[in-house]
Amino acid sequence: MRVSNFNGGPGTLPTEVLEEAARDMLDWRGTGMSVMENSHRGKKVIAMVKEAEMDFRDLLGLDDDWAVIFCQGGASLQFAMIALNFAGPGGRCDYINTGLWSTKAYKEAQICGAKPRLAASSEEEDFTYIPDAFDFDHEAKYVYITTNNTVRGTQWKKFPSGAPAPLVADMSSEFLSRPIDLEPFGLIYGGAQKNVGPAGVTVVAMRRDLADKARLDVPSMLSYPIYIKSDSMYNTPPVWGIYICGLTFKWLKNTIGGLSNMAAINRAKAEALYRAIDLSDGFYRGTARPCSRSVMNVTYRLPTEDLEKRFKKEAVQNGLEGLGGHRSVGGIRASLYNAVTQQDVSNLTEFMLEFQHKNA
Ligand SMILES: Cc1ncc(COP(=O)(O)O)c(C=O)c1O
Repeated sequence: MRVSNFNGGPGTLPTEVLEEAARDMLDWRGTGMSVMENSHRGKKVIAMVKEAEMDFRDLLGLDDDWAVIFCQGGASLQFAMIALNFAGPGGRCDYINTGLWSTKAYKEAQICGAKPRLAASSEEEDFTYIPDAFDFDHEAKYVYITTNNTVRGTQWKKFPSGAPAPLVADMSSEFLSRPIDLEPFGLIYGGAQKNVGPAGVTVVAMRRDLADKARLDVPSMLSYPIYIKSDSMYNTPPVWGIYICGLTFKWLKNTIGGLSNMAAINRAKAEALYRAIDLSDGFYRGTARPCSRSVMNVTYRLPTEDLEKRFKKEAVQNGLEGLGGHRSVGGIRASLYNAVTQQDVSNLTEFMLEFQHKNA
């Protein structure tokens, strides 16, 4: 029996995707072997990677002004790739710091020799909100943001406007969860393991005119132009990961009906959970400011840490998994990624109500 899985990442995947992968496991597309046993230079794998790319483009409405590549190294490798390709030694770049992951990206840019600078930060308030005032550097090559903050449960509702350079965005924990107006963006990326696939593949889309400005003195496996030129096949790509992403893209298109529908479903799930928190007479306390609350990661506390421990333990006994907050902050976090169902959320809110009645 499958549980209600609220893991922060890797997160739950659509049952239909897992079932299809299981059916394909011994004989993928008549090859007599699984997709991961096929040569990545074979026609069928090349076609599968192209199909995944095209479905991804369809979902986000990316035209040929955009390049799409599949990288390895997790979302974290992008922290360095972005700085190496677009800033380089001494290169100026702006960061908006909204939590652990943008802090890490900023530090990685420093390690790469770039000169990152903070255009805004919500650190002084424990990253409980998304800033709305910015001090941009007009010499910056890009402005880096994390659109959804997995740890603190905040999310950008309106992206910063007036930036003098393209926005570069880590969208890992909200990847393909809502339509995005791509106008201010030069590059977006997401590690697959929350909303679209297994760990081990990161999908990156970037405007070709930005890619054209990438530095060429970067090691091959970190060079965006090399990924683009080789259709992500400079070396053996993460074929299995791309295949699962491809199945999830089809699920998003055909079963869900696209990103607007996905966004409506995700909003309804989050509203139900925030309602349960807000109507609990303070027993459950949301940690993010209401105006910055994430639709993907709902973070909250109980009156004591002891109660939180019992909450998590009893939740597991009730088939509700993965509710522990990130290890750096504790508390409770319910991640409501695309494949978490409304039923999963109802199971959680019912459990919360019962737990409150027993313990308030
Ligand atoms: C927003 C965000 N960025 C980056 C990462 C790091 O991802 P990875 O483990 O794939 O490097 C995470 C992981 O949780 C994340 O939530």
